[in-house]
Amino acid sequence: MSKLNDLMARGTELLGSDYAILCGAMSWVSERHLVSAISNAGGFGVIACGAMTPELLDTEIAATKELATRNFGVNLITMHPQLLELIEVCAKHGVGHVVLAGGLPPKGSLEAIKASGAKVICFAPTLALAKKLMRSGVDALVIEGMEAGGHIGPVSTSVLAQEILPELAQDLPIFVAGGIGRGEAIAGYLEMGASGVQLGTRFVCASESIAHPNFKKAFIRASARDAITSVQIDPRLPVIPVRALKNNGTEAFTAKQREVANLLDAGDVDMLEAQLQIEHYWAGALRRAVIDGDVEGGSLMAGQSVGMVTQEESVADIIAALVQQADAALHARG
Ligand SMILES: Cc1cc2nc3c(=O)[nH]c(=O)nc-3n(C[C@H](O)[C@H](O)[C@H](O)COP(=O)(O)O)c2cc1C
Repeated sequence: MSKLNDLMARGTELLGSDYAILCGAMSWVSERHLVSAISNAGGFGVIACGAMTPELLDTEIAATKELATRNFGVNLITMHPQLLELIEVCAKHGVGHVVLAGGLPPKGSLEAIKASGAKVICFAPTLALAKKLMRSGVDALVIEGMEAGGHIGPVSTSVLAQEILPELAQDLPIFVAGGIGRGEAIAGYLEMGASGVQLGTRFVCASESIAHPNFKKAFIRASARDAITSVQIDPRLPVIPVRALKNNGTEAFTAKQREVANLLDAGDVDMLEAQLQIEHYWAGALRRAVIDGDVEGGSLMAGQSVGMVTQEESVADIIAALVQQADAALHARG
């Protein structure tokens, strides 16, 4: 175990956890129960703020603090219109780690987080942007490949890791995300210089996750090839691709894009409003599947690692399996 601990040392020091294994924020799924279970089991849980109002985030952080005995973080979406108020809510609660997702941090946001004493972790989609974020003073980066569930970029995890880790891993902690389902892969990225990893899909079926039984069943049945990316039907609409299990909701998204494109044509909405309508669509569709169990019409956001999710099990068991596999892989390589 000591080699694994050594390779994770920068990550665990930054997070204050036993293992440098983050459970990436997942809208509707990463709430008080899953987040506290992950942190209490030695990983690092992150609340998904998503489209929550500052009041709702305030309640969720307070409730998570009641359940968690260890550090946890909060993930904020950069395009949220009340981003600075959300940062204030995190500061009020003394949240130690804020993860900014969904684009480059807007002016003043990094400074506000740092002024609160919290560490700031950002997503870096390219090497150039990773360098820019490092210069702006972020404490750590997440690099996430297109194997991941939810909103994704165009490049695979293996390529991003090769492009970014050799250049920057010496300078700041980097967490690798996307397509990780077993510990052997964790060991591999750590050996390449990563300080830790971030997983989402693998934790959805944890017994502590509040995802509807239908949602979990769909994950357990699915294989890697069922987790497909959404198709952009109109080049004018800058739709960020979403990876999800194929269902009727996949077709419904095509219809939604057509509807928004028609509104654009008629001049009823501008581009920003069109984008917001698409994002609201996803948030609603994900809620219908995760909370209501509508696995036909809702969105089953899932990464390709879904094929490695075979049963409902506790967070502690999932983390123990990942750690054991990573440890065995490192030993086998001497
Ligand atoms: C159901 C689901 C919802 C997600 N929602 C969010 C989100 O709200 N914000 C975010 O930054 N990432 C979100 N993600 C991405 C995860 O945080 C994580 O980075 C990703 O799942 C890692 O890849 P993996 O699924 O291959 O493990 C979501 C992923 C899934 C599967």
